[in-house]
Amino acid sequence: MQSSVHVDALHPMSKISKNIYGQFSEHLGRCIYQGLFVGKDSPIPNVNGMRTDVVNALKEAKVPLLRWPGGCFADEYHWRDGIGPQAQRKRMVNTNWGYVVEDNSFGTHEFLELCRQIGCEPYINANVGSGTVREMAEWVEYLNSEGDSSVVQERWANGRKEPFNVKYWGVGNESWGCGGNMEADFYADVYRRFQTYCRDYGDNKLYRIACGPNTDDWEWTETLMKKASKYMDGLTLHYYDVPSGKWKDKGSATEFTEERYYETLVRAAYMETLLRGHLAIMDRYDEDHRVKLLVDEWGCWHDVEPGTNPGFLYQQNTMRDAMVAAITLNIFNAHADRLGLCCIAQMVNVLQAMILTEGDQMVLTPTYHVFNMYKDHQDAELLESCVFSGTVTEDLKQISASASIRDGSVTVTMANLHATEKADVLVNVEGMEKAAVTGTVLAGAMDALNTFQHPDTVKPVTLEGIVRTERGLVVPMPACSVVTLKFNA
Ligand code: AHR
Repeated sequence: MQSSVHVDALHPMSKISKNIYGQFSEHLGRCIYQGLFVGKDSPIPNVNGMRTDVVNALKEAKVPLLRWPGGCFADEYHWRDGIGPQAQRKRMVNTNWGYVVEDNSFGTHEFLELCRQIGCEPYINANVGSGTVREMAEWVEYLNSEGDSSVVQERWANGRKEPFNVKYWGVGNESWGCGGNMEADFYADVYRRFQTYCRDYGDNKLYRIACGPNTDDWEWTETLMKKASKYMDGLTLHYYDVPSGKWKDKGSATEFTEERYYETLVRAAYMETLLRGHLAIMDRYDEDHRVKLLVDEWGCWHDVEPGTNPGFLYQQNTMRDAMVAAITLNIFNAHADRLGLCCIAQMVNVLQAMILTEGDQMVLTPTYHVFNMYKDHQDAELLESCVFSGTVTEDLKQISASASIRDGSVTVTMANLHATEKADVLVNVEGMEKAAVTGTVLAGAMDALNTFQHPDTVKPVTLEGIVRTERGLVVPMPACSVVTLKFNA
């Protein structure tokens, strides 16, 4: 069967918040240290300690939002340990991730400097598990107040006169697990209490984020919505794609069978079921859809690379991961009206990373390229797209797609999930029949990857061979590929 994609450009729907293309950076392994931050005295080129190569790549991909400092780390992080002169900061053991010593040289000011350099919005996840209400309230005050209070004077003493006006605040992380092992009912009350003392300062209205469910924990969503929805702007969802389905033996990031490849993609597509399920529960308590669902941890979780610290979660990244990213981002686009923000886990050197580093070397992963190819969807308006195609396995369609419009230009992103068969996809964009069309393609074997020795094995190139026919455009998609089409009026 010939696959086809039909897009209606005449009736734009909801805005796709750029924040669903957000990222996550945790004090875990080599994400912050070495990956993003090397310190001012490093021989690796940097600006105020931030790696220039990495920051430039992230700017190119238009990263809109960055979550920090965790993850599980967030609920053991005490922000005062990370301010003031770096040499005098407290040293702590990172008990979640490898028991390495954390010297707190990257703290609040460094995080906000990183966001400034990338040009993205900061999202701070505060400590509820082992922290106090006062600690969180004062963090908000420290960053956002202009008043002449002692807390604000500390900020001034640390070199920052103007408030930072941080808007996005998470109240605990995975409070059902590493964030305190709480029950939903109990956490709902804790959440209500903590958020009460997170004040709005000046014109900066906080976006209050409650810890939501793990995967398909429908009851957690039900309880949080029932007891606390009127006190929150967003409820998080965490979902990791573990290819084998077994946490103890997740499988290699680089060596896998075709069967495992399809299993991984089916698990990625499960995001659709999760969104529908949680949103349906949320509907019962918030019929105006004021509270957004925030998938602030998602991505593939493979076994670590052989020989690396198991606590550092360092994994390679192949075309399989790129396909997972493409499927997931197409799903997010389709639910843009209900999603407030999303963050892939994680940004550098951890889990499904955008970027890998080794010393002064940097590699852009296939996942990075997908984000870069999808960036024109950010803040554009969603268009309805209908996909007709056969399946590659179970009920997983061979083609995944989404589309958006901005300033009269249409972006269509498509993935051909078939591991070995190309697809000539018939594409029609109603209202753009005469538009000039260009295409970009990312393709490779399902296990193709970029290494420090061969950093450009997988990279986007111009898509040749698009043919205009009476029935529409015929777009030649290689096996295991992602394509972006641009229609310019
Ligand atoms: O992203 C790695 C870990 O996964 C995070 O710290 C935690 O929130 C989740 O379990």
